[in-house]
Amino acid sequence: MEDRLRSIEDKAIKAVRQAKDQETLEEIKVRFLGRKGILTGILKGLGRLPRQERPKVGKLANEVKVRIERAVRQRLKALEKEAGPKVIKGFDPTLPGRTLPRGHLHPITTVLHKVCSIFERLGFSIAEGPEIELDFYNFEALNIPPDHPARDMQDTFYVDDKVLLRTHTSPIQVRTMEVMKPPIRIIAPGKVYRCDSDVTHTPMFHQVEGLMVDREVSFAHLKGILTHFAQEIFYRDTKVRFRPSFFPFTEPSAEIDIQCVMCRGGGCRVCSDTGWLEVLGAGLVHPQVLRNVGIDTERYSGFAFGLGIERIAMLKYGINDIRLFYDNDLRFLNQF
Ligand code: PHE
Repeated sequence: MEDRLRSIEDKAIKAVRQAKDQETLEEIKVRFLGRKGILTGILKGLGRLPRQERPKVGKLANEVKVRIERAVRQRLKALEKEAGPKVIKGFDPTLPGRTLPRGHLHPITTVLHKVCSIFERLGFSIAEGPEIELDFYNFEALNIPPDHPARDMQDTFYVDDKVLLRTHTSPIQVRTMEVMKPPIRIIAPGKVYRCDSDVTHTPMFHQVEGLMVDREVSFAHLKGILTHFAQEIFYRDTKVRFRPSFFPFTEPSAEIDIQCVMCRGGGCRVCSDTGWLEVLGAGLVHPQVLRNVGIDTERYSGFAFGLGIERIAMLKYGINDIRLFYDNDLRFLNQF
């Protein structure tokens, strides 16, 4: 009996060592150690042996079993190492991975960049100012007296008596002229705040301010530059119209309309059948504003303009509700 066990062990270990792959190894394992395996058969038949032999043979059989199991484990390890990384059924490692969704710029940011680049190409540089602004820069220095309707609590978010959220980018005109001597050519993009909310107004929106101060700057320069801008941002043949208007910090002042980009001037709902759309406020810088910052009005003159980015983005992309920009609905944003 003992000889038989030893010969089984030899055979099993030899077979295990020669196993070429994991499948063969598994077969060998089953053949010797499986429920109907050779060794299992012997262990089951122990009962038929003479009583005094049983412990000895049983012990040996168990030892043989342990040694074969160990050999199987070692061989399995070696085979796994040879095979390299595990190949999982149904998984193709050559397939490209799933890409993560990539973000993109907000449509307002895109339009802001476009507007800035048009003016940068004309030699304007970028200026900035604080969103939390002093009453002085937002109003006083811009020739807006304390009792002017633009100061009404309904439009302005006040922080306290002297501090507010800027209602336009025009205070950057003043801040720039305080630190820069003419010739000045800047644009100032940024967020502005007004207590207002409906389909065409949000409490926060974006403006781009423009300011040019130099010798003999005239209304003709303003017209030329804004016409060029309108034709760059919309269509090459976009018509521009200047209407007399009023701003306390410009004289003369104008509101600038462009030919309706929806109906191309024919009349539609967007332009209320007028064929025109208001997109800009502008004018020649009021002499009082120049004097406020110590610029000699005998030598220098300037123009300024302010445009609303949301309005331009709405016209460019045909969006009829400004609030869509700030709902953060990805179904909307992903269209850009
Ligand atoms: N600041 C004005 C506004 O917000 C626009 C403007 C800017 C008008 C510069 C004239 C000159 O409506």
